This record gives sequence, structure tokens and C-alpha cells, in this order.
Amino acid sequence: MFTPPVGNAALFHRRALMAPTNAHLGGPAAAARGLEHPAMRAPRLFADSATRADVEPLLRAGIINGITTNPTLLRKAGADSWDGAKRIMADLCALFRPHPVSLELTALGEEAMVAQATELAALGDNAVIKVPVGGYRAVDPKADPHTGLKVIRRLFERGVRVNTTLVFNTAQALWAANAGAVYVSPFLGRLSDYAHAHDDRARPPGNSLAWSREEGQGQGEGEDVAFETPYVASGGPVRDIGARLVFEIATVFANYRITTEILAASIRNATQMTECFVAGADIVTVPAPILARVADHPLSDEGLLTFAKDAKVFGA
Ligand code: E4P
Repeated sequence: MFTPPVGNAALFHRRALMAPTNAHLGGPAAAARGLEHPAMRAPRLFADSATRADVEPLLRAGIINGITTNPTLLRKAGADSWDGAKRIMADLCALFRPHPVSLELTALGEEAMVAQATELAALGDNAVIKVPVGGYRAVDPKADPHTGLKVIRRLFERGVRVNTTLVFNTAQALWAANAGAVYVSPFLGRLSDYAHAHDDRARPPGNSLAWSREEGQGQGEGEDVAFETPYVASGGPVRDIGARLVFEIATVFANYRITTEILAASIRNATQMTECFVAGADIVTVPAPILARVADHPLSDEGLLTFAKDAKVFGA
């Protein structure tokens, strides 16, 4: 389990800057009795899904108050054309209103992305546009590496809310916030998966990410330089590489009073979800099967079975 390296008072102060999350709950009866909601600054839970049947019961149960989608999740939800994908996205926006629904751009190239963002933003006033922070040169070596940041800035200027996706280090998160993103999505699971698949087990966790390709994949001088660095994106002497990233972003955002919300993504299990809260995430987006079990524990099962059995004596 991730343990923060130091207590960070700045994180507490940052939470106070953020909008209350449960202000919409309660009502006149609670107010008349002076009952304030006890979790006004709680983090939010989103479902990482585009499948209505999975997310609607979670929404109705009050477990989630937002969702994140992407092209892979839309395909899983049955979309096999852009029109089909847009129909699903519009339906999800209507279902979740006023809660945010993240819709990912599929276009590449600044102008095409801005145009597509306008099209997606029209699907609902709760639509949030997902813009990849980087990776553009991987698709087209001639592409502008700053395409994502430019698009985020232009969308901010148009009043469109952006969720910056595919964030794997703190610098990416900071530049996205600077550009005007209201959410940044660090991908914990993919980071851990990568480290698990590629790390040299004899070295500190994250070592496979400890140097850039230019530096020679761990060969020679680059390796030594990277090995010394404490930064998550460059590896570092900590095991909880994903949670560590969230903590690092939260600390930097707190230092500079940045209110861009940290939307921890690519969650693989319930432990990672908890680690994100320990690390200071504002929101965690979680696959529906994990969310369906948030109220479960084997000892809760055992305890309730006993209470239910003993209560039979009351004839209730
Ligand atoms: C986040 O917004 C993404 O949809 C998602 O978390 C990606 O996770 P994956 O690594 O499971 O694909």
C-alpha cells in the first residue's frame, strides 16, 4: 500500500480551494436540524465506462457522479461508426446531466481537433473534452509535439472544459494545467503494467522508465543519470509508481494553488483506488466491475449473516 513520504499540509489547503463535492446533497429537513453534509470535500468517484447498463445503477445508487469514456470503451459499448459513437456519447451526457462526461477526441491535428471538440461539446453542457497531452509524433513523426497543449489552450479560450488524458508524468500534468485543462488524468495502471513488464527486477521499481530512448534504454551514461532521479516518470526508489505519480502531481498543484482536478485513471484494482485517495487525487475513475464491489468485504458478509440470523429471534 502506498504511504506518502511526508505529511503534506499543502494538500489539505488545496482541498479547501476546491469546490465542495457534496453540496447538492441534503435538503430542508437536514438543514432544519443543523445537519451539514460531513463529506463536503470528499473526492469524487467516476466510472470508466461507456456502457449504460453498467453505469446507470451506480449513478442511481449515488456511488458515481461522472464518467470517463474513450474510443476503446465506446467500441465495447457497441459503437461501430462515428455516428453510433456520438449517439452513445449523447445518451450518456443526457443520463449524467449535470455531472461531467468525458468524451475523447479521435481527430489528430490542431484544427481538426478543435473542430471535433466543438462537435462533441455540443452533445451536452456537461461534456468534457478529452485531449491527449502527447504522443502526436508517435503517430506522425512530422506532427507538432505540442499539438495537445495548443488545443487545450484554444478550447479553454472558447470556454470548453478539457480533461487531459494519457498523462504519465508530473511535467505533462503541469503543462496541461497551465494550458487551461480543468482535469488531468494520470494513468496509474498502465504505468504500473509497463514497469511490471519491462523493469529489471534487480533494480529499483520503475527503472524501465528511467531513461529516454535517446539516452539508450538504460545503456551507458543515461542510465546513471536517471538512476539518481527521484522523479516518478523517470523511475525512482519507490514501489508504488502510479500512486507516487498522483502524490507528486498533487504536491506540485498544491504548491502553486492549481485547482485543475487530478482525475486518477487506468485503475486495475480496489487497492489502487484507495492509494489514489491517500495520494491526494480529486477524482478516481474506476471500471464498473470494481465499483460494483465498493461496499463489499468478506467480514461484512460474515458479520451481516450473523446479525441477520440473530435478529430472527425478534421476529422482524
Ligand atoms: C481514462 O480516462 C481512461 O479511459 C482509462 O482509465 C484508460 O484505462 P486503461 O489503461 O484501462 O485503458
